[in-house]
Amino acid sequence: MANELKLTWENLENAVRNCRGCELCRGRTNTVLGRGCCRAPLMFVGEGPGRQEDEQGLPFVGAAGQLLDLALASLSFGEEDYYIANVVKCRPPGNRNPQPAEAQSCLGFLRAQFALIRPSIIVCLGSVAHTNLVSAEESITRARGKWIEKKGVWFMSTFHPAALLRDESKKLPFWQDLKSAKQKLEEVKAGRRLQAVQGSAQQ
Ligand code: URA
Repeated sequence: MANELKLTWENLENAVRNCRGCELCRGRTNTVLGRGCCRAPLMFVGEGPGRQEDEQGLPFVGAAGQLLDLALASLSFGEEDYYIANVVKCRPPGNRNPQPAEAQSCLGFLRAQFALIRPSIIVCLGSVAHTNLVSAEESITRARGKWIEKKGVWFMSTFHPAALLRDESKKLPFWQDLKSAKQKLEEVKAGRRLQAVQGSAQQ
């Protein structure tokens, strides 16, 4: 987003909608910013919109998204607990992975989302998010399920839900990683509640 603009949701939405920062803008029907709670403690980050996401302007509404929603509901994640976004906001043609230059050109928007939401936990779904946010050196298969803290934010990478649709053997580790995310979420929420109580006791 242009530096002179104040960081608000409205400015961010406009900037994304009008973006011509890379070639992906040519093929889009809609830009796809995100969905979920704008004050959520946890953010999921995928790679980029697919066909249904491009049509609807919302992330993770196709088959992979339905699988993700089902898993989150089964683990009792509440709607106020999370926000879902992608590394790139326009659909890559034929659902290919975003190229590094496309991801780089779009990352400012994701950083703006982090700045507005201020999540305490970020879960990377798949290798594109993992490479851009956690580590370009360690593969997703080796890195998945491990927590690392960067500047007070907990990061964990897991498989992309679309990968589970192609490879059943990824379902169990994915489930275990989401369970671990749920546990981290409860810890973070308890910490936030304590801070709120301490804050109001000091007033
Ligand atoms: N895959 C993604 O990475 N993001 C979406 O929004 C949909 C599918």
